[in-house]
Amino acid sequence: MRSSWYSKLYLVLGSRPPINWLLLSAVGVFVLIALLGSSSYSTTFGSVTDSVGPEIYLNHRRVKEQILSDYLELKNLGPDREKDVDFCSKDRENYVPCYNVSANLLAGFNNGEEFDRHCEVSRDRQHCLVRPPKEYKIPLTWPSGRDVIWSGNVKLSKDQFLSSGSMTKRLMLLEENQISFHSDDGVIVDGVKDYSHQIAEMIGLGSDSDFHEAGVHNVLDIGCGFGSLDAHLLSLKLTAVCIAAYEPSGSQVQLALERGLPAIISSFISRQLPFPSLSYDMVHCTQCGIVWDDKDKMFLIEVDRVLKPGGYFVLTSPTSRHQGSAVGSKKGSVIPFEEFTQNLCWNLLAEQEETFIWQKTADIQCYTSRKQDSIPLCNGEDDQSYYRPLAQCISGTTSKHWIPIKKRLSGSLSSAEIEVHRIIPEDFSENLEPGDEDPMPPYNMVRNVMDMSAHYGGFNAALVEARKSVWVMNVVPIGERNTLPVIFYQGFAAVFHNWCEPFPTYPRTYDMLHANGLLSLLASERCSMVDLIFEMDRILRPEGWVIISDKIGPIERARDLVTHLLWEARVIDLQNGSDQRLLVCQKPFLRK
Ligand SMILES: *[C@@H]1O[C@H](CO)[C@@H](O)[C@H](O)[C@H]1NC(C)=O
Ligand SMILES: *[C@@H]1O[C@H](CO)[C@@H](O)[C@H](O)[C@H]1NC(C)=O
Repeated sequence: MRSSWYSKLYLVLGSRPPINWLLLSAVGVFVLIALLGSSSYSTTFGSVTDSVGPEIYLNHRRVKEQILSDYLELKNLGPDREKDVDFCSKDRENYVPCYNVSANLLAGFNNGEEFDRHCEVSRDRQHCLVRPPKEYKIPLTWPSGRDVIWSGNVKLSKDQFLSSGSMTKRLMLLEENQISFHSDDGVIVDGVKDYSHQIAEMIGLGSDSDFHEAGVHNVLDIGCGFGSLDAHLLSLKLTAVCIAAYEPSGSQVQLALERGLPAIISSFISRQLPFPSLSYDMVHCTQCGIVWDDKDKMFLIEVDRVLKPGGYFVLTSPTSRHQGSAVGSKKGSVIPFEEFTQNLCWNLLAEQEETFIWQKTADIQCYTSRKQDSIPLCNGEDDQSYYRPLAQCISGTTSKHWIPIKKRLSGSLSSAEIEVHRIIPEDFSENLEPGDEDPMPPYNMVRNVMDMSAHYGGFNAALVEARKSVWVMNVVPIGERNTLPVIFYQGFAAVFHNWCEPFPTYPRTYDMLHANGLLSLLASERCSMVDLIFEMDRILRPEGWVIISDKIGPIERARDLVTHLLWEARVIDLQNGSDQRLLVCQKPFLRK
């Protein structure tokens, strides 16, 4: 019988006994780990291995030095295993590292840049556990959790409860401790369906259920309010990712994630978004708070960068007619940014009431037929755009990924496509192959999943194939091969990230983290494993799961570390003679 590690994983997570095992009290597991850690112990689901020293893997001097520093950090956490790490102060309850606005102001950032991501300002990584708010409750299971959330789980002000904003922002307070959102099939019609239908008609489709067929799979929603539109698009099998700037309270990103919808902190301030060029089929903004006229309209150039050829930019705003009037607009013209969008090779497809839809050209010749003094094309490819300064040039025109959205084949990648994406075909199928007899992962307990080192998105593909109602944030670490185009191609959510830095999300926003080979990668990048594990603890909700796959050495060190954080953990030997191990953990729900 072939045993891929997916099937092992599902065995571990899917059957009753190990879940119960993992749900044992922290004390019990501590004892178990102490008992089992020193000797090989076979169980039905694999075996807990000897604690083999990490010496075998010290072939690399850099790795060696990193391991040493990890050990020193580890020792500083406490003299023995029984000594727990510290808990963070209450001001870290909803804090996102790199977004300390007062520290950014002190460091001299202003004009809105204080709200930008500045990891260099708050370098000191505190090794403390972020506690949930006092009223925190485990979210309701999907799909109920999409429509009803616990108000104690998110940081909202009284005003936000009372305000009933635009159609995508309206919400309702049901009871004292619950917020309920209008759902598609709810009693209250909230206009989101009509709006989505209107967009579809404006781009020439019969209805919004045709989006997928028309090549619209990946939508970037700037400032998603409370995620109602994204929830609707999700029901049409589109992946809509919400991005919004860091907000100390009432965060759209925190709310969307609490509802089980894809979201990430990211903003149009001074840097590029953490996506490669030509990533999205549609970019959407409804009153998203961006002044598109600012900074010589570089934000529009950034939208152009992430749009695929033939992709759409949807702008809905009562003020959009007044924008773009400052520069070059003809007398009486009411079309915003008319000259500028022509210069970008965008075609205004339709305008209706407050909504404008442009389509980016699918014809690369368009750029050469523009006027002389037009926006220049960028030199070279920006394959790995990671918070670079905004650029005053048009990207992607020399990219191999210049593939118009309508030409995209539905279904799986063709071999020609694979060729374009520079994948070795066997590599790809191996990566996608799920196990033989996949039992269910923990049912209905998991909705927001992050694959911290996603490669080609194989973990996501396996979960889709197994028909799990989860979504995956596929993270491609900086320094790894840029596989994001392949992941986007499959219609999945994805982002670049440097795991030496904190991830741009609020605490307690993911239910499961998966990391294959990440520990080894980080050791070679000289990043601290201790920082990484504390960061994982921060973004994981109480009772959330972690699955780490790596070589024995890093796995053993990670296990030592996570027991300090009071995670319940076990090492699983795949028993095929390799030095690969799985570390399966669950974060406890600590109230203190
Ligand atoms: C943010 O920065 C300020 C000023 O440096 C500091 O006093 C405060 O503790 C920081 N906040 C958090 C949550 O780290
Ligand atoms: C053992 O299984 C792992 C995970 O499936 C795989 O990466 C590795 O190549 C296998 N090793 C051998 C010797 O078969």
